[in-house]
Amino acid sequence: MTKIVILTGAGISAESGLETFRAEDGLWAQHRVEDVATPEGFAANPKLVVDFYNARRAQAANVDPNAAHRALARLEQQHDGEVIVITQNVDDLHERGGSQGVMHMHGALKGALCAACDHRWPAPMVMASGDACPACGALAARPDIVWFGEMPYDMDSLFDHLSEADIFAAIGTSGNVYPAAGFAAEARRAGAHTIEFNLERSAVGSQFAEHRQGPASLTVSVWVDEVLGKVNRD
Ligand code: APR
Repeated sequence: MTKIVILTGAGISAESGLETFRAEDGLWAQHRVEDVATPEGFAANPKLVVDFYNARRAQAANVDPNAAHRALARLEQQHDGEVIVITQNVDDLHERGGSQGVMHMHGALKGALCAACDHRWPAPMVMASGDACPACGALAARPDIVWFGEMPYDMDSLFDHLSEADIFAAIGTSGNVYPAAGFAAEARRAGAHTIEFNLERSAVGSQFAEHRQGPASLTVSVWVDEVLGKVNRD
């Protein structure tokens, strides 16, 4: 049966109303990465970092999944082979759109992490810097987000999935950040058909055999209907 592995980036949540990172008015035009998305930034000013993620958590809670999120959930429910969603996003729109078992390789806004003992617990809507860890009591709560310079989560299982993929799709990611930007090449090596969904060619666009240009809410919905029809007919 056909295994489908899907990588998503900020572009899949754009039509829900969440900012992407590298658009002209994106998050990295408004904030310095080193200030809000590195361990050093957190050590230097934990309140700035915690407040940055509090704002993103509030924004994510106030928007809804779009047709692209829902299409991927439909694919997972109706396709008779395995469907794996690996997301770089930290919002919960895939889950709220109906996807199960989403792999958040960059962490999730819904998670809190203890910088002292690595304990994890559900994040409050508004985290305060210096919140106490419920396990060890250290005043070291941080957002459970993978920052630059830190290792993404579940790398071994991510690469296992890529090595087993028959179809690899990347949706709404600029291909600027590794290891995710290298996934298409990895899937091709395993013999997967690779397809990119974006408004424009990404930085690793040449790694894809197929391109579907346009807003994900349209292109992904059309693709899922095709795949369900074509693949399940075999
Ligand atoms: N439909 C499809 N693609 C879209 C849409 C849309 N409606 N809107 C934007 N895009 C595309 C853009 O063309 C761009 O290629 O989504 C991509 C967003 O790119 P980035 O802002 O770089 O976001 P992403 O690729 O997810 O960033 C990867 O970088 O900063 C780190 O940890 C952060 O997870 C993030 C990682």
